Amino acid sequence: MDITKQSKGMNIKSTRQSFHFSSMSFKAAIMETVLIIGATGNIGVSAVTAALRSKRNVLAVVRNQSSADKLVRYIGSSNGITFAEANVLSDSGVKGIVDQVREGKLPDFQHVFSSVGGEYTTTPLPEITTAQLRRNFNISFEANFFAYRDTIGYLLEQKNPASTWTICTGSQGELATHPVPAMTQGALFPMATAAARENESTNVRFNEIYLGFRVETDDLAVEHGVTKASEFGNVYEMVLANPEVRSSRIRVDDVDDLKKLKYQKKF
Ligand SMILES: NC(=O)c1ccc[n+]([C@@H]2O[C@H](COP(=O)([O-])OP(=O)(O)OC[C@H]3O[C@@H](n4cnc5c(N)ncnc54)[C@H](OP(=O)(O)O)[C@@H]3O)[C@@H](O)[C@H]2O)c1
Repeated sequence: MDITKQSKGMNIKSTRQSFHFSSMSFKAAIMETVLIIGATGNIGVSAVTAALRSKRNVLAVVRNQSSADKLVRYIGSSNGITFAEANVLSDSGVKGIVDQVREGKLPDFQHVFSSVGGEYTTTPLPEITTAQLRRNFNISFEANFFAYRDTIGYLLEQKNPASTWTICTGSQGELATHPVPAMTQGALFPMATAAARENESTNVRFNEIYLGFRVETDDLAVEHGVTKASEFGNVYEMVLANPEVRSSRIRVDDVDDLKKLKYQKKF
């Protein structure tokens, strides 16, 4: 499967995408797209699943062809997914994607979901090398920051009242049994609060999904006895569907929280 960088009116592989671009029909006008950064990870796959289940298209940012292929294997099809290649760790990666959207080379998007993540390791503090620390802050914090900084302006300009921006963080940020991911999650908390404040009165509903247990892609979840990405996807589906959820932290502490949103305003 090729990673396609498609332009309006061009031949597009997925059925839904061709529908999306083929005309200015009524249905094309209401078909939304979710830009997903970290789309190929455990949490990203749940967001892709949620977007597709809620009849939205996906614009998946991937680092290379093999990551794109991995996502298609998880989802079972590329239908409804446009792939865009970028280095999300660079401070120009996501910006380049938005530039291509503006140029009409990639689909317009109304929602963003970000869940780029690094090592899930228990390395104790004294053993964390400088390189490991910086690599993980780059992957788990900076990449999510760049994703926000370089997409929010586009969503604000579009003025679509249904727009959302969602980030997934984890309870490691408080528990700290795994110091490396704990520290990067900790840095995401105030970023999410600031974004929640900045968008309290905009057209973009910013929310943080705070996950308190392990979620993995469905095959690995069965093997490891943890929660399936497809089940965790329910939470994002409920966030997309509920206009009341705004500037909030959605807590997912146990499996009951996969059925009903538990949320509270961040400030
Ligand atoms: N999974 C959980 O149970 C859980 C629980 C609480 C919080 N979280 C948080 O959610 C976030 C994502 O977790 P996850 O389990 O989905 O992580 P993951 O499965 O490791 O996925 C990480 C994502 O980031 C991308 N990525 C990682 N390193 C990269 C690099 N060097 N260059 C480009 N892309 C890179 C991966 O792309 P590739 O596929 O190309 O590698 C993948 O899309 C993390 O911040 C994590 O702390 C997860």
